[in-house]
This record gives sequence, structure tokens and C-alpha cells, in this order.
Amino acid sequence: MLSDTMVVLNGNSNHTLAADICNDLGLEPGRAEVTRFPDGEISVSLGEDVRGKDVFIVQSTCPPVNENLMELLVMIDCVKRSSAARITAVIPYFGYARQDRREQGARVPITAKMVANLIVAAGADRVVTMDLHCEQIQGFFDIPVDHVYAGSIIVDHFRKKEMNDLVVVSPDVGAIKMARAYSRGLGARLATVDKRRVSGEKTEIGFIIGDVAGMNAILADDVIATGGSITEAARLVLDKGAKSVILACTHPVLCGPAVERLLASPAQEFAFVDTIPVDGKISSDRVSVLSCAPAFGNAIRQIHKSASIGRNSL
Ligand code: R5P
Repeated sequence: MLSDTMVVLNGNSNHTLAADICNDLGLEPGRAEVTRFPDGEISVSLGEDVRGKDVFIVQSTCPPVNENLMELLVMIDCVKRSSAARITAVIPYFGYARQDRREQGARVPITAKMVANLIVAAGADRVVTMDLHCEQIQGFFDIPVDHVYAGSIIVDHFRKKEMNDLVVVSPDVGAIKMARAYSRGLGARLATVDKRRVSGEKTEIGFIIGDVAGMNAILADDVIATGGSITEAARLVLDKGAKSVILACTHPVLCGPAVERLLASPAQEFAFVDTIPVDGKISSDRVSVLSCAPAFGNAIRQIHKSASIGRNSL
């Protein structure tokens, strides 16, 4: 029985996903109480023995980012001091990923690397994550990283709709590799928007490379944060003659004006993978939530057996 050798715990970032992953594995969720002391410090207490067990801690470092990150670190420390045999941080959404380089000599940190250092220093032995903002972040960790992709989840969702005249559009050049994989998986055309970021909240949209006129467009990105990039791209795509537009993303961070921008956008559908909970943030019959629990369930099962998680990219 898996429960003899393995425990899956979670912090407060995404209880539903953690429960769905346990369900996929046929396990009861592990017992960990993750609360706050009166002064706001994080308190973790395990309700079961993890000595000698293979422990998986599910926690997205989504908003409130620093609270969720700190919960993950404290949980790792707790499990380590409780003599687990191995600790895997399962981080469906790895926050701080967009701070991954010092561009043009700017006096800025590389926070993605620092966060990776913290996770390793706390005592994680492995990491499993989904659609990192860029693949190179795997190398920021000096422990094995299993990178799971949401591609097949998103492509399967759209395949079922049997849509014609499809074009997958990348809202910026950075997301083009992902959009290309989706376009191949769907047998669709590919286009990209030329976007420049002016600040954290503001982007400037230029032109579209590729033809979208008369097509049904799926705009696919890894992250929707303030929603600026994708909603501006949606308008441009329609201005250039697309028949309809759908927005898809792996990590629905949805901060600041995102919900307002999405609801005001002309998109027919918002397809979000559930690495981050959207319940209570956006209520619209245009929202489709796609589960990543089977993908993480499979990764956890395979890691526990020391088996390959397989090529899960498209
Ligand atoms: C950028 O490279 C990312 O892929 C997203 O396009 C971006 O971070 C989304 O941010 P926002 O929703 O705030 O425009």
C-alpha cells in the first residue's frame, strides 16, 4: 500500500488541488496543521509519523506569495526534523520565476535563483513543478527537478471542442515555444504578438507576426498576472480580423486589475489550469478550470517508484 511508504502533505495555497492529487493517488491527505501564531509567524504541526517515509509537500507559491513560500520552507524544515527519508517539494506554480535574470546591467536581484536556494537550504531533496516561466530555472536548483508540462491538458481540452480554422497565438515572443507545441498538438496555425513590457503593470503591444484573419484564435500564455498582456493581445487579434478569441493559461495568478480586465475582454472563454485556485476570484460562465491533478499524481507515483515520469511535453 502506498500509504505505508508515502505521505502527501500540503500548505494553504491550494487545498483543492492537493485533495485531488491525493484522490488520484488513492491516498488520504497527510495530516499537517499549518496555521499562524498570534504574531503572524507560521506554525506547523504534523498529525502523523513521517519517519522513514517518502514525503511530498504540495504548495504553489502564488499570492500571497511570501506567506505561501514561507509555509513551504517551514513545512520542509518540519518534515526534515521529523526524519522523513526524502522530501519532494511539489510546486505546481513556482512564483518569483519572472525575476530570472539581470537584464542590460540593471541593478536587480535574480530572485528566482534565491528562492531555489532557500528551498534547497530548507531541506528539499527534489522538486516537481509545472510550466516554469523559463526552462533554465531548473538549473537554479542543485537537486533534481521534474518539470511537468500542462500542454497535453490544454490541448486535450481544445481537441474535444473540435474547432475549425484554429490559430494558436502567443501573446509575446517568450511564450512562442509553448504556443508552437499547442498549435502542433491541435493541427492549428501559429502566430505571435510583438509585446514590450513597460513596467510590472503596463505592456505595449505592437503588431502580429502571422495571419489571424478569419480564424478562431487561442491565445496561450504561461501566466496571467494583471491580465494586461493577454487582454490587449486579444483585442489586437480581433482587430486583425479573427472570428473569435479564447484565452488559455497554466497559472492564473489573477492579481490587481486582472479580473476586471478579463471580464471586460471580448474573449469567449478563459481556460485556466488549476495550479492556482480561481474559486472566489472570478465568477463567470466563460471560465473553464482544467485539472492538473492527474499529471502531478502520475509524477508523484513515478518518483516514488524511482521510475521515469516519461516525456510529458507535446
Ligand atoms: C511574460 O513573459 C509572461 O509570459 C506573461 O505574459 C506575463 O507575465 C503576464 O503578465 P500580465 O498578465 O501582468 O500582463
